[in-house]
Amino acid sequence: MNVFDALTDRTSVNYFDSSRTVSNEEILALLDYAQQAPSAFNIQHTRYLVVTDPQAKEQLKEAAYGQQKVVDAAAVILVLADEQGHERMAEIAQRGVDAGVYNEGVRDYMVQAVTDGYSGQAAKAHDEALRSASMATMNLMTAATGKGLATCPMIGFDAEQVKALFAIGDRYTPAMMVTLGYAKDGNWGRKPRLAAAEVSVLDARPGQAHALN
Ligand SMILES: Cc1cc2nc3c(=O)[nH]c(=O)nc-3n(C[C@H](O)[C@H](O)[C@H](O)COP(=O)(O)O)c2cc1C
Repeated sequence: MNVFDALTDRTSVNYFDSSRTVSNEEILALLDYAQQAPSAFNIQHTRYLVVTDPQAKEQLKEAAYGQQKVVDAAAVILVLADEQGHERMAEIAQRGVDAGVYNEGVRDYMVQAVTDGYSGQAAKAHDEALRSASMATMNLMTAATGKGLATCPMIGFDAEQVKALFAIGDRYTPAMMVTLGYAKDGNWGRKPRLAAAEVSVLDARPGQAHALN
Protein backbone atom coordinates (compact mmCIF):
# COMPACT_ATOMS: atom_id res chain seq x y z
CA MET A 1 0.00 0.00 0.00
CA ASN A 2 1.39 3.39 -0.89
CA VAL A 3 1.46 6.24 1.60
CA PHE A 4 -1.47 8.09 0.04
CA ASP A 5 -3.72 5.05 0.30
CA ALA A 6 -2.56 4.44 3.88
CA LEU A 7 -3.47 8.01 4.80
CA THR A 8 -6.94 7.81 3.28
CA ASP A 9 -7.70 4.21 4.27
CA ARG A 10 -6.97 4.66 7.97
CA THR A 11 -10.03 5.01 10.15
CA SER A 12 -10.47 4.85 13.90
CA VAL A 13 -11.73 1.34 14.44
CA ASN A 14 -14.14 0.59 17.25
CA TYR A 15 -14.64 -3.15 16.77
CA PHE A 16 -11.58 -5.39 16.78
CA ASP A 17 -11.37 -9.12 16.12
CA SER A 18 -10.46 -10.39 19.58
CA SER A 19 -9.39 -13.78 18.19
CA ARG A 20 -6.41 -12.37 16.30
CA THR A 21 -3.07 -11.47 17.81
CA VAL A 22 -0.14 -9.36 16.64
CA SER A 23 3.35 -10.57 17.49
CA ASN A 24 5.91 -8.57 19.43
CA GLU A 25 8.09 -8.59 16.29
CA GLU A 26 5.30 -7.03 14.24
CA ILE A 27 4.68 -4.45 16.95
CA LEU A 28 8.36 -3.54 17.17
CA ALA A 29 8.52 -3.20 13.37
CA LEU A 30 5.62 -0.73 13.53
CA LEU A 31 7.24 1.16 16.38
CA ASP A 32 10.41 1.44 14.32
CA TYR A 33 8.30 3.24 11.71
CA ALA A 34 6.85 5.41 14.46
CA GLN A 35 10.41 6.23 15.45
CA GLN A 36 11.05 7.70 11.98
CA ALA A 37 8.85 10.66 12.91
CA PRO A 38 10.53 14.05 13.25
CA SER A 39 11.18 15.57 16.67
CA ALA A 40 12.76 18.80 17.89
CA PHE A 41 16.55 18.39 17.58
CA ASN A 42 15.85 14.70 16.90
CA ILE A 43 15.43 14.30 20.66
CA GLN A 44 12.90 11.50 20.04
CA HIS A 45 10.86 12.11 23.17
CA THR A 46 8.48 9.23 22.50
CA ARG A 47 8.34 6.05 24.57
CA TYR A 48 5.92 3.14 24.16
CA LEU A 49 4.34 0.91 26.73
CA VAL A 50 2.75 -2.07 24.97
CA VAL A 51 -0.02 -4.03 26.66
CA THR A 52 -0.99 -7.41 25.21
CA ASP A 53 -1.74 -9.57 28.26
CA PRO A 54 -5.53 -10.16 28.47
CA GLN A 55 -5.71 -9.50 32.20
CA ALA A 56 -3.63 -6.34 31.90
CA LYS A 57 -5.92 -5.17 29.09
CA GLU A 58 -8.95 -5.77 31.33
CA GLN A 59 -7.40 -3.53 33.99
CA LEU A 60 -6.52 -0.95 31.37
CA LYS A 61 -10.09 -0.99 30.09
CA GLU A 62 -11.28 0.21 33.49
CA ALA A 63 -8.93 3.18 33.24
CA ALA A 64 -10.24 3.81 29.71
CA TYR A 65 -13.81 4.33 30.91
CA GLY A 66 -14.81 0.81 29.91
CA GLN A 67 -13.98 1.10 26.22
CA GLN A 68 -14.30 -2.50 25.02
CA LYS A 69 -11.79 -2.13 22.19
CA VAL A 70 -9.03 -1.93 24.80
CA VAL A 71 -9.69 -5.60 25.55
CA ASP A 72 -10.58 -6.75 22.03
CA ALA A 73 -7.59 -5.20 20.26
CA ALA A 74 -4.51 -7.40 20.04
CA ALA A 75 -2.39 -4.71 21.64
CA VAL A 76 -2.80 -1.38 23.33
CA ILE A 77 0.12 0.94 22.88
CA LEU A 78 0.46 3.70 25.40
CA VAL A 79 2.41 6.44 23.68
CA LEU A 80 4.33 8.39 26.30
CA ALA A 81 5.99 11.78 25.97
CA ASP A 82 9.27 11.91 27.88
CA GLU A 83 9.47 15.46 29.18
CA GLN A 84 13.13 14.92 30.05
CA GLY A 85 13.99 13.27 26.75
CA HIS A 86 16.43 16.13 26.08
CA GLU A 87 18.71 14.77 28.80
CA ARG A 88 19.88 12.15 26.29
CA MET A 89 20.86 14.82 23.75
CA ALA A 90 24.63 14.21 23.99
CA GLU A 91 24.21 10.51 23.22
CA ILE A 92 21.69 11.19 20.43
CA ALA A 93 23.87 13.85 18.83
CA GLN A 94 26.90 11.53 18.98
CA ARG A 95 24.96 8.92 17.03
CA GLY A 96 24.57 11.51 14.25
CA VAL A 97 28.35 11.95 14.18
CA ASP A 98 28.93 8.19 14.22
CA ALA A 99 26.54 7.79 11.29
CA GLY A 100 28.41 10.49 9.34
CA VAL A 101 25.39 12.78 9.14
CA TYR A 102 27.14 15.79 10.72
CA ASN A 103 30.42 16.63 12.41
CA GLU A 104 31.48 17.21 16.03
CA GLY A 105 30.97 20.97 15.68
CA VAL A 106 27.32 20.50 14.79
CA ARG A 107 26.97 17.95 17.59
CA ASP A 108 28.36 20.38 20.15
CA TYR A 109 26.16 23.21 18.86
CA MET A 110 23.05 21.05 19.16
CA VAL A 111 23.89 19.83 22.65
CA GLN A 112 24.49 23.41 23.78
CA ALA A 113 21.30 24.67 22.13
CA VAL A 114 19.24 21.98 23.80
CA THR A 115 20.90 22.53 27.17
CA ASP A 116 20.24 26.27 26.94
CA GLY A 117 16.79 25.90 25.44
CA TYR A 118 15.36 23.41 27.91
CA SER A 119 16.97 24.37 31.21
CA GLY A 120 14.23 25.50 33.57
CA GLN A 121 11.70 25.41 30.72
CA ALA A 122 9.32 22.74 31.96
CA ALA A 123 6.34 23.99 29.92
CA LYS A 124 8.38 24.05 26.73
CA ALA A 125 9.75 20.57 27.41
CA HIS A 126 6.20 19.33 28.00
CA ASP A 127 4.89 20.86 24.76
CA GLU A 128 7.80 19.62 22.67
CA ALA A 129 7.49 16.11 24.04
CA LEU A 130 3.76 16.02 23.30
CA ARG A 131 4.30 17.34 19.77
CA SER A 132 6.89 14.69 19.06
CA ALA A 133 4.78 11.91 20.56
CA SER A 134 1.81 13.00 18.44
CA MET A 135 3.88 12.79 15.28
CA ALA A 136 5.16 9.35 16.23
CA THR A 137 1.59 8.24 16.90
CA MET A 138 0.49 9.25 13.42
CA ASN A 139 3.44 7.39 11.90
CA LEU A 140 2.50 4.33 13.93
CA MET A 141 -1.09 4.38 12.69
CA THR A 142 -0.09 4.99 9.07
CA ALA A 143 2.40 2.12 9.18
CA ALA A 144 -0.18 -0.15 10.78
CA THR A 145 -2.67 0.67 8.03
CA GLY A 146 -0.01 -0.13 5.46
CA LYS A 147 0.41 -3.56 7.07
CA GLY A 148 -3.34 -4.27 6.97
CA LEU A 149 -3.84 -3.57 10.65
CA ALA A 150 -6.41 -1.34 12.30
CA THR A 151 -5.95 1.25 15.02
CA CYS A 152 -7.79 3.74 17.14
CA PRO A 153 -6.08 6.72 18.77
CA MET A 154 -7.60 7.39 22.17
CA ILE A 155 -7.42 10.04 24.80
CA GLY A 156 -10.50 8.70 26.57
CA PHE A 157 -8.69 7.35 29.59
CA ASP A 158 -7.73 8.50 33.06
CA ALA A 159 -4.05 9.31 32.65
CA GLU A 160 -3.30 9.23 36.38
CA GLN A 161 -5.00 5.86 36.74
CA VAL A 162 -3.04 4.46 33.82
CA LYS A 163 0.21 5.83 35.20
CA ALA A 164 -0.50 4.30 38.58
CA LEU A 165 -1.50 0.94 37.06
CA PHE A 166 1.83 0.53 35.29
CA ALA A 167 3.93 2.57 37.74
CA ILE A 168 4.91 5.00 34.97
CA GLY A 169 7.41 7.63 36.08
CA ASP A 170 6.46 11.28 36.54
CA ARG A 171 8.60 12.43 33.63
CA TYR A 172 6.30 10.60 31.17
CA THR A 173 3.02 12.15 30.03
CA PRO A 174 0.61 9.81 28.28
CA ALA A 175 0.11 11.45 24.88
CA MET A 176 -2.19 8.84 23.41
CA MET A 177 -3.44 5.32 23.76
CA VAL A 178 -3.53 3.40 20.48
CA THR A 179 -5.46 0.18 20.11
CA LEU A 180 -3.95 -2.07 17.44
CA GLY A 181 -5.25 -5.24 15.84
CA TYR A 182 -7.51 -6.56 13.13
CA ALA A 183 -10.82 -4.87 12.38
CA LYS A 184 -14.06 -6.78 12.68
CA ASP A 185 -17.12 -6.13 10.53
CA GLY A 186 -19.44 -3.36 11.58
CA ASN A 187 -17.04 -0.44 11.86
CA TRP A 188 -17.92 2.94 10.46
CA GLY A 189 -16.55 3.94 7.09
CA ARG A 190 -14.39 6.97 6.58
CA LYS A 191 -15.92 10.12 8.03
CA PRO A 192 -16.01 13.12 5.69
CA ARG A 193 -13.34 15.75 6.08
CA LEU A 194 -13.48 19.47 5.63
CA ALA A 195 -11.83 20.14 2.29
CA ALA A 196 -8.38 21.68 2.42
CA ALA A 197 -9.77 24.69 0.54
CA GLU A 198 -12.26 25.27 3.39
CA VAL A 199 -9.61 25.43 6.07
CA SER A 200 -6.63 26.98 4.33
CA VAL A 201 -5.40 30.43 3.49
CA LEU A 202 -3.20 30.30 0.42
CA ASP A 203 -0.61 32.85 -0.56
CA ALA A 204 -0.87 34.56 2.84
CA ARG A 205 0.83 37.92 3.14
CA PRO A 206 1.43 40.23 6.09
CA GLY A 207 -1.32 42.79 6.60
CA GLN A 208 -3.74 40.98 4.30
CA ALA A 209 -7.36 40.26 5.28
CA HIS A 210 -8.13 36.56 5.34
CA ALA A 211 -10.45 33.96 6.84
CA LEU A 212 -8.22 33.41 9.86
CA ASN A 213 -7.99 37.04 11.00
C1 LIG B 1 -6.55 13.06 20.36
C2 LIG B 1 -7.58 12.05 19.95
C3 LIG B 1 -8.31 11.39 20.93
C4 LIG B 1 -9.25 10.41 20.59
N1 LIG B 1 -9.88 9.70 21.58
C5 LIG B 1 -10.71 8.69 21.23
C6 LIG B 1 -11.26 7.83 22.23
O1 LIG B 1 -10.98 7.95 23.43
N2 LIG B 1 -12.11 6.85 21.85
C7 LIG B 1 -12.43 6.65 20.53
O2 LIG B 1 -13.19 5.73 20.24
N3 LIG B 1 -11.90 7.43 19.56
C8 LIG B 1 -11.03 8.42 19.87
N4 LIG B 1 -10.46 9.19 18.89
C9 LIG B 1 -10.77 8.93 17.48
C10 LIG B 1 -11.60 10.05 16.85
O3 LIG B 1 -12.92 9.96 17.27
C11 LIG B 1 -11.46 9.94 15.33
O4 LIG B 1 -10.12 10.12 14.97
C12 LIG B 1 -12.31 10.97 14.59
O5 LIG B 1 -13.68 10.76 14.82
C13 LIG B 1 -12.07 10.91 13.09
O6 LIG B 1 -12.37 9.62 12.61
P1 LIG B 1 -11.30 8.73 11.84
O7 LIG B 1 -10.07 8.61 12.72
O8 LIG B 1 -11.95 7.39 11.64
O9 LIG B 1 -10.99 9.40 10.55
C14 LIG B 1 -9.51 10.13 19.23
C15 LIG B 1 -8.77 10.81 18.25
C16 LIG B 1 -7.80 11.73 18.60
C17 LIG B 1 -6.96 12.38 17.52
